[in-house]
Amino acid sequence: MCGIVAYLGNKPAAPIIINGLKRLEYRGYDSTGISIFENSLQVYKKAGKVVELDNLIGSKEFTSTIGMGHTRWATHGEPNDTNAHPHYSFNQSLSIIHNGIIENYNILKKELLNKGYEFSTDTDTEVLITFIEYIKSEANCSLEEAVRQALTSIDGAYAIVIMNTNNPDQLIAARKGSPMVLGVGDGEYFVASDATPLIEHTNEVVYLKDQEIAVIDRDKFRIINIEDEEQTPVIQQVELELDALEKGGYDHFMLKEIFEQPNSIADSMRGRVDAANGNLTLGGIREYSKALANSKRIIIVACGTSWHSGLVAEYMFEEYCRIPVEVEYASEFRYRNPVINEGDIVIAISQSGETADTMAAIELAKSKGAIILGVVNVVGSSISRVTHEGAYLHTGPEIGVASTKAFTGQLSVLIQIVLNVARIKGTITESKFKELLTELSTIPVKIKEVLESNAQIEYISDLFKDAHNFLYLGRGYNFPVALEGALKLKEISYIHAEGYPAAEMKHGPIALIDEKMPVVFIATKDSSYEKVVSNIQEVKARKGVVIAIVTKGDQLIPAMADHVIEVPECHEALMPLVSVIPLQLLSYHIAIMRGCNVDQPRNLAKSVTVE
Ligand code: F6R
Repeated sequence: MCGIVAYLGNKPAAPIIINGLKRLEYRGYDSTGISIFENSLQVYKKAGKVVELDNLIGSKEFTSTIGMGHTRWATHGEPNDTNAHPHYSFNQSLSIIHNGIIENYNILKKELLNKGYEFSTDTDTEVLITFIEYIKSEANCSLEEAVRQALTSIDGAYAIVIMNTNNPDQLIAARKGSPMVLGVGDGEYFVASDATPLIEHTNEVVYLKDQEIAVIDRDKFRIINIEDEEQTPVIQQVELELDALEKGGYDHFMLKEIFEQPNSIADSMRGRVDAANGNLTLGGIREYSKALANSKRIIIVACGTSWHSGLVAEYMFEEYCRIPVEVEYASEFRYRNPVINEGDIVIAISQSGETADTMAAIELAKSKGAIILGVVNVVGSSISRVTHEGAYLHTGPEIGVASTKAFTGQLSVLIQIVLNVARIKGTITESKFKELLTELSTIPVKIKEVLESNAQIEYISDLFKDAHNFLYLGRGYNFPVALEGALKLKEISYIHAEGYPAAEMKHGPIALIDEKMPVVFIATKDSSYEKVVSNIQEVKARKGVVIAIVTKGDQLIPAMADHVIEVPECHEALMPLVSVIPLQLLSYHIAIMRGCNVDQPRNLAKSVTVE
């Protein structure tokens, strides 16, 4: 959580930083701040979004060519002006921005209080910078050395940048567990949580590794590790288009990303799926493809929406590869002493590639000898760098906090992995393989067709925008879609919603059904269609209001349901790619009608880098 950006160069720093913070706002948006050097170290900060900071600064013309900024997702201390970053050290000689959590801050705070230091905020970050100031004055050493020494005593995660009032020509940056990228421009340097604030300035970046410290001066930078060993920086090129970071004429990133799905799915298949010739090439999974095919079981670890795509993958792997699959919430897996054997395959699914729980689950599995494969969207992200092999989604940046195109991108890549394994194992016939590959290649066109129902879905949304509860039901491959539909609705519209396997309804949730309860059935024509029809009848018998996602041409369910949204016919294993689209649009429209900020829902952040 939290976005950080810093600049040292020859241009005024403030506008570059504010602009960068706007790009990083998806990471957290409950307070923001900036530190610059105008004769002395200055900090401006405010609760709320970057626009509040912009208003606070107003027309002040800063000349500082060094600075750093922060957009926060609160962990320690409520999101108010005081707790916003940057934070000064006790004597205000240093300022810091921080993304992460200092777990042992309380012990350090007590020690510093005993030595006479005082604190003006509730944050762990103020403790860290004051601790650095303390070491600097005690050891009478350089800031670089004080930071290094301090970090050897820190438990937890951090991406930090520090400014020093006694040296306005230097930034010190360091990371462990939280992402950080250093941008190398022409006579200027940038530091940020990801590459999005940098790409309008430079595409040359260095991804800092854990426990590395960057010492950035006006004419050079160096990287050391916390053992004080000099590191050789590897400069890489980022391939990110500026257009991908803009709304492109849409009112919200979420809507843009929903409508991008025909293209993003095509991108996830580009160079991999050759349906015409029945070929499938997954360049990212080569060395371990046989190990995957021979594995006795697969464990999938993920969180949230990515966990839902893991559930779909479970069905696909078991059906076509005959390999048992366990889908684990990364946050549970990491703490429950799971049985992991040498050579087990663990697939980690993550849009951001930065989710702390997924990262910790990977580390645990890796330490027990498992082979880790990643299904990740953000290129160069932490998870993509710790996995043995993997396949990127290639769906482009997802900026709306609610995941949409990443979900369908994950499903596309996962079915490609499944088909590859099934072919190697011989658990799929050649004709079935080709049928599914061909079907996959038609998904972009089918999604386009569903998107044409946008106006109808907007109309239905208007009828239900004031509901207090929703139930989402589906069976088989559509069960994870029900979970995903419910998650989308609650996270952006704040309406309580539950997703259930349709047959589970009678074991409890049926008690909720009355004439006020909208029940969304994902009821497309598949192997459990008749069973779902019975479940719809059970809801109607109790006066529930049914909104059904049905296969085009279905006549039975439209005769029973109150509202239907049609989707094109599709193989059931691939149906989630199509049947989720109306649910994304339904939640988007309902949230907009309720006046919610769909791109930045309350209390949430795009990448959850704290546990
Ligand atoms: C929901 C959503 C979250 C994420 C979850 C995992 O719309 O976006 O539930 O899916 O935080 O994030 P990643 O995929 O980045 O690991």
